[in-house]
Amino acid sequence: HHSKIPQTMLHIDQYTAAAEEAVGQLEIPAAPAGLYDPVRYTLQAGGKRIRPVLTLAVADAISPDGRHLAVNQAAAIELFHNFTLLHDDVMDRADMRRGRPTVHRQWNEATAILSGDAMLTLAGITMMKGCDQAKLRPVMRLFNRTAMEIYEGQQYDMDFESRTDVTVGEYMEMIRLKTSVLLGCACALGAVMTGADETVTDAFYGYGESLGLAFQLRDDYLDTYGDPATFGKQIGGDIACDKKTWLLINALAEDTTGTVAAEISNPSPREEKIRRVREIYDTLGLPQRCLGLIRRYADNATARLATARLQPEALRFFTDLAMLTVDRTR
Ligand code: IPE
Ligand code: IPE
Ligand code: MG
Ligand code: MG
Ligand code: MG
Repeated sequence: HHSKIPQTMLHIDQYTAAAEEAVGQLEIPAAPAGLYDPVRYTLQAGGKRIRPVLTLAVADAISPDGRHLAVNQAAAIELFHNFTLLHDDVMDRADMRRGRPTVHRQWNEATAILSGDAMLTLAGITMMKGCDQAKLRPVMRLFNRTAMEIYEGQQYDMDFESRTDVTVGEYMEMIRLKTSVLLGCACALGAVMTGADETVTDAFYGYGESLGLAFQLRDDYLDTYGDPATFGKQIGGDIACDKKTWLLINALAEDTTGTVAAEISNPSPREEKIRRVREIYDTLGLPQRCLGLIRRYADNATARLATARLQPEALRFFTDLAMLTVDRTR
């Protein structure tokens, strides 16, 4: 028989527009300009908005027009993400983001610290908005737990810079913490705000978590193989900082010429170091193998939705979104 399933999902671009609107409606004070101008500069630079898109789309997948119940949480998660970027760019000595100078380059490190702090607190304030009594505790519990995990992941990321024995397992746990849990949290917030049960919430968290692993692997791939004009960041920053990416860990294990180890202990000038390490990656076929792995984590993300009791239209939406992540160039 035929039962009419109501159209509940918007197009991905429409969720990006809705996320942009949620961010645009945040009220950022004018003074002191030294604190808030960098906040505006960051929020107006136009990121992909993948995290708020996830929150809004999950809410719609669970409840018709459910996104309206989760707009504050969508904006809050993007604010939190942008806070992590300000501090991350100091930690990673990064000069460019979203095609513009990073905040610590445009202003200075003190500005990146304090405007980042302001964004973190604004995220907390915004996260509480529109939460009724029953939702406030689960939402803040999830948000605070996620934030602590991200700091742990960022610490491992820095610790790994000075190590050469990092395993792929350690790397996967590090990126799960620094990146994946935030995508999981973004998804779970959409579920909690629309009153989903634990099974459905967990399924969406699992989707975001696995998608996040694909997302960070792709970020690491693009850091070496991306086009800076599209990616919006300087290429080769990870190699320059001895970041233990999947590419570098495997190159260290497989490079019989010793070039990679030598570039870490006794580096050539920046551009030459990047070129020499990238050549080893290419020789070992690492970029292709990395792309295969990204595809596997994206497929696994979709598989995690099996217990989410989704309508076919919603399942297709999240499958398409995972495939867009696999191919993303920015
Ligand atoms: C950058 O995040 C940090 C990572 C976790 C890789 P995004 O790639 O989502 O950056 P924007 O927000 O789109 O600029
Ligand atoms: C991002 O990792 C993790 C967080 C910001 C928490 P990266 O350091 O790889 O992100 P990009 O490449 O600077 O955006
Ligand atoms: Mg980093
Ligand atoms: Mg960085
Ligand atoms: Mg990166």
